[in-house]
Amino acid sequence: MTPEHLPPVIAIDGPTASGKGTVAAGVAAVLGFHYLDSGALYRVVGLAALRAGVRLDDGAALAGLARRIAPAFVEGKIVQDGEDITLPIRAEDASRAASQCAVFPAVRQALLERQRAFRQPPGLVADGRDMGSVVFPDALLKVYLTAGVGERAQRRHKQLIEKGIPATIDGLLRDLKERDARDSGRADAPLAVAPGALVLDTTGMSIIDAIGAVVAAFRQRS
Ligand code: DC
Repeated sequence: MTPEHLPPVIAIDGPTASGKGTVAAGVAAVLGFHYLDSGALYRVVGLAALRAGVRLDDGAALAGLARRIAPAFVEGKIVQDGEDITLPIRAEDASRAASQCAVFPAVRQALLERQRAFRQPPGLVADGRDMGSVVFPDALLKVYLTAGVGERAQRRHKQLIEKGIPATIDGLLRDLKERDARDSGRADAPLAVAPGALVLDTTGMSIIDAIGAVVAAFRQRS
């Protein structure tokens, strides 16, 4: 239950390339809510580690990086130290590095308050892996958004090609499965269906319909 003095949160969790980012941003636009792309924070840490040559198995060093980064979210872009890193954090090497950084409890802890600070009136739509279970356990609505792995690979392929980033379906499939296993299998805050979450399988579903289903569920609860 959401305490009355806190703005409502819609937590949308799910695996890589499930469409949760697009759906979450769409729901936020319909309701006039703020939007938190928590995966982007892990991606900023992953990219910073690759660039600084920090080993991806050095949890303490990665947590240090997580405390130091201060990305600004401006008009759909992510800016770190004056550089627009919106595209570099989406590249496959940064995606893999993000998933590797995310296994360390100290990294997750370093990003916790930063995520909670996005909870501002009139409300927040937050997407990630542990939004409903750890970051906003009192979310008014929890959604687990998923889709078949084949469809997710196709969607990610289309996105990357449109951005001019080279990728193959086979490579993406392998990568998605590897990341799903790491994100679901880690000991700290693994990807899982939070108790009471609405499970929405968007295989074959349009984005508009998925946004409509989440908005309808929210209106029913509020
Ligand atoms: O949602 P995404 O694909 O942009 O997330 C990138 C990685 O960050 C993902 O592989 C796991 C990690 N992540 C996480 O552990 N917890 C979150 N709340 C969001 C992302």
